[in-house]
Amino acid sequence: MKITEVLQVLSDSTRLRMLRLLGQEELSVAELQEILEMGQSRISSHLGLLRRNNLVSDRKDGKRTYYALRDEVCSNYGFIRMALSEESDEEFWESDQSALARIVDRRRRESERYFDEVAERLGKNYVPGRTWEAIGHFLFRLVPPITIVDLGAGEGMISQLLAERAKKVICVDSSKSMVRLGTDLAKRKGLSNLEYKYGDLEKVPLSSKSVDLALMSQSLHHAQKPEVALAEAFRVLKPGGQLIVIDLKKHQFEKARELYGDHWMGFGQNELYRMIGDAGFRGAKVEIVAKEKKKPFFETLLATAEKA
Ligand SMILES: C[S@@+](CC[C@H](N)C(=O)[O-])C[C@H]1O[C@@H](n2cnc3c(N)ncnc32)[C@H](O)[C@@H]1O
Repeated sequence: MKITEVLQVLSDSTRLRMLRLLGQEELSVAELQEILEMGQSRISSHLGLLRRNNLVSDRKDGKRTYYALRDEVCSNYGFIRMALSEESDEEFWESDQSALARIVDRRRRESERYFDEVAERLGKNYVPGRTWEAIGHFLFRLVPPITIVDLGAGEGMISQLLAERAKKVICVDSSKSMVRLGTDLAKRKGLSNLEYKYGDLEKVPLSSKSVDLALMSQSLHHAQKPEVALAEAFRVLKPGGQLIVIDLKKHQFEKARELYGDHWMGFGQNELYRMIGDAGFRGAKVEIVAKEKKKPFFETLLATAEKA
């Protein structure tokens, strides 16, 4: 950029006003028109010149384009910084500032009005990008550095996510294929703190009081004796350790035996609460956390409890 050209660009009071405004806030052509009270073609031709001289940048947002003073302009050219920060007694200086403040305030109010209107519906409505998957990924980042046993872990989809933050994750499964598959996947993902053990929910291959969290996700209904599996979870937990059971609420879909190899057709809410208490746990909570929209309308129970 030639200095003489820059000085020539700056020698126009409208362009100087624009640069001063764009240094404070990114603005669209329509907003500049409103502040400067000038026609669109005049504003556009000034903006074109400022852009060609690399003094402003533009950003597309939908149908609108927003312009802003380039970050490096003031640091590269001390005299521009001075020209833009200098107080001036020219009459437009103050009116530009109040018009800019009005526009910024109006933008804020527009956004507030939108959220005021949708506030009641926001929890139920579609919010772009707010998926349970995204929320799940965020929540997995909150996992503390603890030792977890995933009982009936399958290929380890949940365990792999837990292992990103946990100290150690031990996956127990009675299917040799699952153990092989899960071990390979963990290795490929470089999860050295995720270990698979071939074993049974009802005879967990771990020593007593060795883990902080016992997880059973969609595995309890596969146990021959669920109460024995819960007693095993209790045994391997350290005092103060947590139990999490995610399972199906009792249903009538008998085909699940043949389709998914299920042994129990889910559990009643009270039934699961009682079984967890009988295994020795304290403070059990059993809630329905999801209802499928497709037939046979499976419902999911989430149970949590603590080994006192
Ligand atoms: C529906 S999958 C759930 C996998 C995983 N927990 C999940 O939520 O994605 C059930 C898993 O439990 C395992 N399983 C079934 N009976 C078991 C038992 N008695 N002991 C250990 N694992 C068992 C199966 O091999 C299978 O991998």
